[in-house]
Amino acid sequence: MAVTADAPLVTEGEPSLAEQVASRRWYHTIRLSDEVTSPGWMDTEKAAPSMPWPGDLTGKRCLDVGTFDGAWAFEMERRGAGEVLAIDILDEDRWDWPPIVDPASRAGIDAQKGQGRGFAIAKRALASNVERRDASIYDLNPAEFGTFDLVFVGSLLLHLRDPILALSRVATVTDGSLIVSDALSARTTLTSPLSPTFDLDGVGRPYWWKPNLAGLRHMVKISGFRPVTRCEPFLMPPGPGHPRPPLSQAVRSRTGWELIRSSRLGDPHARIRAVRTSEP
Ligand SMILES: C[S@@+](CC[C@H](N)C(=O)[O-])C[C@H]1O[C@@H](n2cnc3c(N)ncnc32)[C@H](O)[C@@H]1O
Repeated sequence: MAVTADAPLVTEGEPSLAEQVASRRWYHTIRLSDEVTSPGWMDTEKAAPSMPWPGDLTGKRCLDVGTFDGAWAFEMERRGAGEVLAIDILDEDRWDWPPIVDPASRAGIDAQKGQGRGFAIAKRALASNVERRDASIYDLNPAEFGTFDLVFVGSLLLHLRDPILALSRVATVTDGSLIVSDALSARTTLTSPLSPTFDLDGVGRPYWWKPNLAGLRHMVKISGFRPVTRCEPFLMPPGPGHPRPPLSQAVRSRTGWELIRSSRLGDPHARIRAVRTSEP
């Protein structure tokens, strides 16, 4: 499937920003104008201030990996970054799917992703200079992408079969800091707080390793980084676009319980900032 990263928006008889925003499902909650905020699945507006930013980003070169609607890329630009590159894979066939795929899960992801249109709407509304490029985290290398003062990897490691390889590729393009904000296993964080422990999914959907707090920190370290903040748990707040299934769904399946939890409380995540080491 060939996909154009930044297809131009319709100009003749163009719908208003509010209409464009209402015409699709959003993953990110982004304030696009005084009147219009995208109704995201996750409330990235609320989560942004507590990310472990390394301070002033003025003039910095930043990379957002797996950008989706672009919230973190636009946030880095808002914080003064001189150049922001956002990469993502627009063709979902190239994601790390498990061998057996659940068609309902696949259709749900297709509908939400919508070929990255949200990013294009947001970029235009914000008059942003963020450049989006269709590339995988596994493709990162300094010869092709250069190096970055700050790399943001958000809610992506969970979806990768090989998150250590992916983070090692990130290390090759990181000159300054890395921020990782990713899904956390609350259960193993409580039951085995000291040992790096990972829940493994890989059933039906592109969900793989979910670490406990010690596990996420360990992943970052063995990929070639030195943590400079603690690995801090938090709940990624649900946005106005998050479905709110009835509580009865919680007992039907694990995904039902996860949806109830993330719609009512938020999705267990952890955030950490690290710098590259010469040796892991
Ligand atoms: C759950 S969303 C997270 C979006 C955003 N980074 C955040 O923190 O909210 C996962 C994103 O990663 C992208 N993705 C999946 N596999 C990828 C890969 N191998 N390389 C780069 N992006 C990938 C998906 O297309 C999707 O946009």
